[in-house]
Amino acid sequence: MNIRCETLPDYPAIAEVNTLAFGQENEAKLVEKIRDSDRYISDFSLVAEVENVVVGHILFSYIDLVGEETLEVLGLAPLAVRPQFQRQGIGSALIKAGLETAEAKKEAIVIILGHPEFYTRFGFQPSVVYEIESPFPVPEEFFMVKPLQKYQNMYKGKVIYPAAFDEV
Ligand SMILES: CC(C)(COP(=O)(O)OP(=O)(O)OC[C@H]1O[C@@H](n2cnc3c(N)ncnc32)[C@H](O)[C@@H]1OP(=O)(O)O)[C@@H](O)C(=O)NCCC(=O)NCCS
Repeated sequence: MNIRCETLPDYPAIAEVNTLAFGQENEAKLVEKIRDSDRYISDFSLVAEVENVVVGHILFSYIDLVGEETLEVLGLAPLAVRPQFQRQGIGSALIKAGLETAEAKKEAIVIILGHPEFYTRFGFQPSVVYEIESPFPVPEEFFMVKPLQKYQNMYKGKVIYPAAFDEV
């Protein structure tokens, strides 16, 4: 398995992986909307390929953390692995690669809405621990953050997702 940044020819395969993994097109559309927005960072759209076929995809993009001031922080969404390739470590490898990129780019914190059993393995903790509030009512263990080396305690407040996320 190889992990690398997405390139334009990967777009259809990325849409397919997301549609198959989620069983709906919403996440594939989300990826396209984020790509078309000013919150997209190409270094943070990674694909996992096996024998030159894209089998997994992860995207991190900027979302807002609104406290005393509004700070741009990384949101992780979506993460998808082609169903036949799940439970082989590909999703975990994509998360680790993304977090390494985030550290290298001196990002401060990553936000995720997802399953706690999976994401706590990578150091994510409930956001309430860091006084970070979800924009929607979800059980607090599902809305998680991972502070990175550049984290400072100014990173607190309420998360606001950009319009690209409206229909997900
Ligand atoms: C979640 C997902 C990205 C994980 O990718 P993956 O490559 O299978 O993950 P890994 O092999 O690295 O990790 C395996 C862990 O993921 C979880 N997992 C993966 N596939 C699963 C499935 N079909 N059912 C339940 N749990 C699953 C398990 O906790 C598993 O741990 P275990 O094998 O120790 O029990 C993948 O299952 C997927 O694309 N799911 C559909 C889309 C989705 O829900 N995305 C996450 C949105 S937050």
